[in-house]
Amino acid sequence: MEVLQWNEVLATGIEEIDDQHKRLLEILNQLRVAAERRERKEATAEVLQQMLDYTIYHFDYEEKLLEHAGYELLPLHKRTHELFIRRIPDFQKRHAAGEDVLQEVHDMLARWLVHHIQNDDRNYAPTVKAYLKQEAKKSPSRYGPTRPQPLEGEPPAPAKADKRGAKRGFWSRLSGLFSGDA
Ligand SMILES: [Fe+2]
Repeated sequence: MEVLQWNEVLATGIEEIDDQHKRLLEILNQLRVAAERRERKEATAEVLQQMLDYTIYHFDYEEKLLEHAGYELLPLHKRTHELFIRRIPDFQKRHAAGEDVLQEVHDMLARWLVHHIQNDDRNYAPTVKAYLKQEAKKSPSRYGPTRPQPLEGEPPAPAKADKRGAKRGFWSRLSGLFSGDA
């Protein structure tokens, strides 16, 4: 299986989104390693679940951001996310039933993810960047270079994403904006 490496072709230029995409690639590579080592079914099931959890978290984050940025193609973008999410449980079921699906799931996810980032996600980048710039002007302390510490009430992070605590802080700040306290 191909080793997926992050490169600039995948960059949206939106730091938080790029970091989350890198994390998705990392999980995909964990899936590849698990498949190649023929790890126990439980271990690979855990990676599949992690992929699903982190993807849901990332899509949710992205959709909220696009909504607040007023991205006009959001309904279409959401639909693309939905269709993707729907495919993973089917792989989980087949995997649980003993079918060797890891190569198939890895290749499907890798193809989909790279295509989605390079096309759909990069399309929204100008709108989101303009929005974040405008918000940073309104509230430099919140979005500027000297960001405040994470706020209370952050959402639970998916498994193995804990090391990204600082990033969840940013999510929390963005959530605060979404709930109208900016
Ligand atoms: Fe997306």
